[in-house]
Amino acid sequence: MNAKLSFDPIAQIETECLAVAVLDEGSGKDPKPVMLTDDADVKKAVADLLSSGEVTGKIFETVMIHRPQGVRARRLLLVGGGKAKNFSAYELRKVAGTAVRFLKPKSIRTLAFIAPPSWSGEADPSVQSRYIAERRGPAEAVKAIVEGAYVADFDPDVYRSDRKDQRMNEITVVASGTEDRQALERALAEGRIIGESQNFTRELVNEPGNKMTPTILARRATEMVKELAPRANGARITAEVLDGNKIRELKMGAFWSVAQGSDEPPALILIRYEPEGAPESPTIGLVGKGITFDTGGISIKPSDGMEKMKYDMAGGAAMLGAVRAIAQIAPKVRVIAIVCASENMPSGKAQKPGDVQIAMSGKSIEIINTDAEGRLVLADGLNYARQLGATHLVDAATLTGACVVALGGVNAGVFANNDEIFERFSAALEASGEKMWRMPLDEEYRERIRSGIADIKNTGGRGAGAVTAAMFLKEFVDQTPWIHLDIAGTAWIDENKAWIAQGPSGVAVRTLVEFVRGFEKNRERTQPLR
Ligand code: BES
Ligand code: MN
Ligand code: ZN
Repeated sequence: MNAKLSFDPIAQIETECLAVAVLDEGSGKDPKPVMLTDDADVKKAVADLLSSGEVTGKIFETVMIHRPQGVRARRLLLVGGGKAKNFSAYELRKVAGTAVRFLKPKSIRTLAFIAPPSWSGEADPSVQSRYIAERRGPAEAVKAIVEGAYVADFDPDVYRSDRKDQRMNEITVVASGTEDRQALERALAEGRIIGESQNFTRELVNEPGNKMTPTILARRATEMVKELAPRANGARITAEVLDGNKIRELKMGAFWSVAQGSDEPPALILIRYEPEGAPESPTIGLVGKGITFDTGGISIKPSDGMEKMKYDMAGGAAMLGAVRAIAQIAPKVRVIAIVCASENMPSGKAQKPGDVQIAMSGKSIEIINTDAEGRLVLADGLNYARQLGATHLVDAATLTGACVVALGGVNAGVFANNDEIFERFSAALEASGEKMWRMPLDEEYRERIRSGIADIKNTGGRGAGAVTAAMFLKEFVDQTPWIHLDIAGTAWIDENKAWIAQGPSGVAVRTLVEFVRGFEKNRERTQPLR
């Protein structure tokens, strides 16, 4: 899909479908639908429809009319954005996505989406919310629309033999002519980069275990970096893949203990992003769990639903998607990404409950349950990132079923060992529109992972499973400011939604990109993106 901006008068735009958000400004029970545009021609074209009471502005409501009068567009699509007072970039992203997913099955391939007008100055003071333009500025609105459209364009049914490629050809974002064009062009380009990168992650996560082994994941990462290098705006970006021998040589006993049971060789994927003139510090270490299939190992999982464990590499794939976007947006901040890729299999070579493993850091680990493998591979990944110079760490992992129980599919779990890094991360969440909820890391939980034979054990019993998993990881980050994301509940969407398909979500990519950008000292930019 292509994305472009238009500053043409809306009535003149020739498109298969013009789409606009409708908000509900009603305060009580009666809806009061209001079009999210100042354009007189569009308002006139839908005046009868709005007064009919058939449109309410309810969130994700879709109403399409053909041959709207007074405008060149063949169709006009109204998409509900919900209560005006709650409307923000978060809703706008999904509204744009809803338009795309409404049109795709109808074989409509081009769309012109009207960006919210700027409300500075002339806005009606009686309106409780000035919508997105006032809260965030028109550039944020353009970015949100484009991100939402790309995310909506993804469908997971790639192995269906009668699959029709229903991707959209083009989205045009219609902005009003008075805006700063250069800023909007940049926002559009960023939205495309981030949306495409989130979809790159989803592509990887969507692949089944037989088609996404550690070796294949490493190859996809290397190919991505090769393609990226010329587009990285002068930054150096390199990929390296460490094999099983190297993993053992580095004494990554925790990582290897998971890999040893599988016939598929593991891979440690290491990507370095080094922008010209960026200081050594900060260096952001992004560490992802890349279990390409999790059977549980000797502590084998029940067969019901085990097929879903192909998405156990979603944390690793999120790091790859994030790097893909970061290299193109090119903030002057160093990044090291590490993906610990392995299968978790039962076999004659597999580790057993009761085994003791020595992690790269020197800590000894008693294995209680071989299904608690994610924390093992991450233990060495986090330690290695610090060794390579990371000053700040973020890991992402489909780590625990307990996090799914605690937060479901709405919020990912966030853990932080430092309030300042959490503040930074919160700001990134605000910008990305992703939902995550902070969880505790009190010292009192530490005793749950004490072992009688070794320094720690790899499970903490029934209670607070997501927390004890995080406490385990904390043993390997020392004093380095660190964020841990448990995305077990949010990396896979079980049902189709108006704005996104069932399947891999690509969660964390957008927030990671915003988080890294937040470290950039001088964020003024005028250069267009390539
Ligand atoms: N990959 C799973 C966690 C998971 C569960 C992800 C459900 C997505 C959906 C992880 O490796 C795991 O098996 N965790 C165990 C830990 C337990 C043995 C302490 C779990 O959560 O049951
Ligand atoms: Mn497991
Ligand atoms: Zn797992």
